[in-house]
Amino acid sequence: MEVSRRKAPPRPQRPTAPLPLLAYLLAFAAPGRGADEPVWRSEQAIGAIAVSREDGVFVASGSCLDQLDYSLEHRLSRLYRDQAGNCTEPVSLTPPARPRPGSSFSKLLLPYREGAAGLGGLLLTGWTFDRGACEVRPLGNLSRSSLRNGTEVVSCHPQGSTAGVVYLAGDTNSWYLAVAATYVLPEPETASRCNPAASDRETAIALKDTEGRSLATKETGRLKLREGGGSLHFVDAFLWNGSVYFPYYPYNYTSGAATGWPSMARIAKSSEVLFQGQAALDCGHGHPDGRRLLLSSSLVEALDVWAGVFSAATGGDQERRSPATTALCLFRMREIQARTKTCSWDFEAENPCNDKDQPERVQPIASSTLIHSDLTSVYGTVVMNRTVLFLGTGNGQLLKIVVQTMVQFGFL
Ligand SMILES: *[C@@H]1O[C@H](CO)[C@@H](O)[C@H](O)[C@H]1NC(C)=O
Ligand SMILES: *[C@@H]1O[C@H](CO)[C@@H](O)[C@H](O)[C@H]1NC(C)=O
Ligand SMILES: *[C@@H]1O[C@H](CO)[C@@H](O)[C@H](O)[C@H]1NC(C)=O
Ligand SMILES: *[C@@H]1O[C@H](CO)[C@@H](O)[C@H](O)[C@H]1NC(C)=O
Ligand SMILES: *[C@@H]1O[C@H](CO)[C@@H](O)[C@H](O)[C@H]1NC(C)=O
Ligand SMILES: *[C@@H]1O[C@H](CO)[C@@H](O)[C@H](O)[C@H]1NC(C)=O
Repeated sequence: MEVSRRKAPPRPQRPTAPLPLLAYLLAFAAPGRGADEPVWRSEQAIGAIAVSREDGVFVASGSCLDQLDYSLEHRLSRLYRDQAGNCTEPVSLTPPARPRPGSSFSKLLLPYREGAAGLGGLLLTGWTFDRGACEVRPLGNLSRSSLRNGTEVVSCHPQGSTAGVVYLAGDTNSWYLAVAATYVLPEPETASRCNPAASDRETAIALKDTEGRSLATKETGRLKLREGGGSLHFVDAFLWNGSVYFPYYPYNYTSGAATGWPSMARIAKSSEVLFQGQAALDCGHGHPDGRRLLLSSSLVEALDVWAGVFSAATGGDQERRSPATTALCLFRMREIQARTKTCSWDFEAENPCNDKDQPERVQPIASSTLIHSDLTSVYGTVVMNRTVLFLGTGNGQLLKIVVQTMVQFGFL
């Protein structure tokens, strides 16, 4: 690792094709260009980032976790999760080409309980190690040992998805982790295999009591996959208006094909699984394949809007990439909530949808769609009292959209 103040090398510009309406709202901001921004470097690809309120920035890379100060100039503490002194990934992996699901040994990195009266902040981490282990630690210093831990909480597969959120469940007054993961993946004979326990083979979403020993799941805290439905790739998890939402897409890890529409599952924010339905998300916008992969997502809380980066399949070698392969779509959460019918298509719940009664397909906010050849990520936040969306691209550009301006001009 080195801490440097090097300027980022200039990136080649690739032609982009935003909708003309939005073109003038885009500002290109390559990180480090012109400014002397501090750059922190780790030995391995960065798998997860989380920012706490008072204890700095947490960065997982390879099998290590670092706690940095907010200037990114000093490391405050480091955890070697695999072997002391070694951050190397235990098996070498060629990262799959975009937009296939990425690989990482860090599966969850969630600071929580910050600012709760009389209690210290905690950090929940999830790793592929020990069959998908999860640990709860004090936020202040990673050198301190974990307070609680359990196995088979997250996906133990580097390519397997995991998304989670921690909340205080009102009915029991305990902190719960709602976690969605791809526990079972096709594995080649040569891979280091990790087979989940029988009870986890069908699990899609589980609620874990983070205060109990080994982060156990109650029988009523498990939502199963629909029998014979194939696997789901979970992209995100967030809280909105008393429910937990999980954006995901059905995905065949063997063929690399999306097998259904990107969707949002909704359960109650509770200590027991109460399935509240699912809705499909249509960011096709006339694309022949309909853009069935969901690469990244972010809730823009200030506007009750959810932003997703969707992609059409491009094949492993990206040969089918076109100027319209990816798109950013904004959806009203109020509409998604209203359209989550209580019937279930991808999950095993009391009232399965019948063939005529498929989940409703929600359309994005008209004229908010941004079409581009290679978007990879989205992050919505408030900067200087303005709601902005940051968009990442495959060639390393960072784009910025001021959402307030879109409201002003009547796009939202
Ligand atoms: C964290 O703990 C380690 C070992 O006890 C200590 O060396 C280090 O200074 C601590 N860091 C912070 C920021 O407290
Ligand atoms: C770190 O671990 C990897 C994988 O186990 C190994 O190949 C490598 O030699 C180790 N490096 C050091 C410096 O110990
Ligand atoms: C898990 O918790 C046990 C005690 O309950 C502790 O001995 C062990 O070191 C912990 N493992 C990790 C990886 O933190
Ligand atoms: C996934 O794709 C493979 C290879 O194309 C196929 O054999 C398998 O049946 C598919 N699985 C599902 C659940 O559709
Ligand atoms: C939150 O959900 C309730 C019904 O559960 C609804 O009446 C209310 O309008 C929703 N809030 C927003 C901001 O949409
Ligand atoms: C932020 O914006 C809101 C409404 O647009 C305004 O009431 C508030 O004063 C602003 N705050 C600051 C610090 O500018």
